[in-house]
Amino acid sequence: MNYRHAYHAGNFADVVKHVILTRLVLYLQRKDQAFRVIDTHAGIGRYDLQGVEAGKTNEWQSGVGRLLETKFDASVEALIKPYIEIVRAENADGKMRHYPGSPLIIRRLLRRQDRLSALELHPHDADTLAALFAGDIQVRVTKLDGWLAMGAHLPPKEKRGLILVDPPFEIAGEFDRLAEGLARAHKRYSGGTYALWYPVKDLSEVRNFVAALRQTNIPKILRTELMIRPPSPEPRLDGTGMIIVNPPFTLADELRLLFPALSKILSEETNAGFTVDWIRGEQVDA
Ligand SMILES: C[S@@+](CC[C@H](N)C(=O)[O-])C[C@H]1O[C@@H](n2cnc3c(N)ncnc32)[C@H](O)[C@@H]1O
Repeated sequence: MNYRHAYHAGNFADVVKHVILTRLVLYLQRKDQAFRVIDTHAGIGRYDLQGVEAGKTNEWQSGVGRLLETKFDASVEALIKPYIEIVRAENADGKMRHYPGSPLIIRRLLRRQDRLSALELHPHDADTLAALFAGDIQVRVTKLDGWLAMGAHLPPKEKRGLILVDPPFEIAGEFDRLAEGLARAHKRYSGGTYALWYPVKDLSEVRNFVAALRQTNIPKILRTELMIRPPSPEPRLDGTGMIIVNPPFTLADELRLLFPALSKILSEETNAGFTVDWIRGEQVDA
């Protein structure tokens, strides 16, 4: 386990992933009934952007850094504001020093009745995350293989749930594990919302992944991808992808409003493009 998210915290992929995450959790807030979010690959929860790792790449500057300098149109601003407010709250003096990871973003959006289960396998990272939430009865941090949560931990007792799966993609076979994990989880808990992150780096792997998802019997699957440059022959992170199973009915329209604005500020090259389409669902796109 060599992957260290601290090198990438706040980069374009984190921005897009976390903006989608806030939209998903905010939707769950529409009903009073309690919900649970399960974050299967949680990381450490808060990243020091002035630390050694982030300082080596400075990826955050072309991610969240650009976002914070942008004035958006009112309709986009309304959708993006909850995410920006969470980021700003971590940096109360106005200087960008800390970036909130997914468990911290989720935590900021929980009401008293809601819960977060965060899994992290790296022993040191799991300890750091547990320390961040020490004494917080709404958060359970477990040092455990996140893929296991896609079986035994489902369905959550709250019945209303969001499962975020954000693996590091540092070893071969992660796309297969993602598709298999989803199929297994969906059999146990078909009513949950699932958000699965994936890198747009090797297009043939992405195509195979999407083909595998099309062959499932899962009724509603939305694909979202935002590119920062056209696909390059060398293995580079050219775009960020997220599959959302059982998305809120509002999500596709929200992302069709957000993605042109995000694409404009995050792209390294013009016309890098984005995709929001149904790969399974009532409105399957060709
Ligand atoms: C991409 S990072 C997570 C970032 C985090 N979700 C966020 O958005 O802030 C992936 C994390 O998964 C952890 N990890 C790797 N394999 C794992 C496994 N099998 N189960 C749980 N965590 C794992 C890594 O240590 C790393 O912290």
